[in-house]
Amino acid sequence: MDNEVLKALRERRSIRRYKPEQIKDEELQAVLEAGTWAPTGMGRQDPWIVAVQRPELVARIDAMNGEILGSPHPFYGAPTIVLVFGSAPSVWANSVPDGSLVLGNMMLAAHAVGLGSCWINREREMFETPDGKALMAELGLPEGLVGIGALALGYPASFPPSVKPRKADYFRIIR
Ligand SMILES: Cc1cc2nc3c(=O)[nH]c(=O)nc-3n(C[C@H](O)[C@H](O)[C@H](O)COP(=O)(O)O)c2cc1C
Repeated sequence: MDNEVLKALRERRSIRRYKPEQIKDEELQAVLEAGTWAPTGMGRQDPWIVAVQRPELVARIDAMNGEILGSPHPFYGAPTIVLVFGSAPSVWANSVPDGSLVLGNMMLAAHAVGLGSCWINREREMFETPDGKALMAELGLPEGLVGIGALALGYPASFPPSVKPRKADYFRIIR
């Protein structure tokens, strides 16, 4: 079987070089809205999604993340960063899977509208620090949330030349 959704699932790639120009509002809206349609445990819609386009904030998030990584520019110069937060897992056990599905939906939607994206790690650590907590308050988020993941988002400046084949025993069917 094949169709456009299955094709998009196969063809989405993590993009690690971006054009500096900002994405269009309608593209951003499409990506964010796709995130909101992800399934969530008990339909609780626990995740919080924050898209950041203000250049000084993008640079600050990039620097904070890079400090934890130990290497500069982990967001690869993408003009938009999308952060996903959720309740602390002690409060809501599904917060990490919920937020991860939101991120997955957004990456697929990004590809579907011609954007590039890449999941960028280390948000849990970033938003545990005093600087991270201060930034969350500046973003207007309630206290007590944890960082789950983030996306670099923008127009791709290059595509990965090849894709790893799927491992041979990735799935099995037991009948
Ligand atoms: C949980 C998670 C964390 C990731 N963290 C990073 C990251 O910090 N930086 C990065 O460049 N890619 C990151 N990636 C992207 C993966 O490296 C990428 O998905 C993988 O190599 C497969 O490539 P593809 O997405 O093009 O299929 C992450 C992906 C996931 C799912």
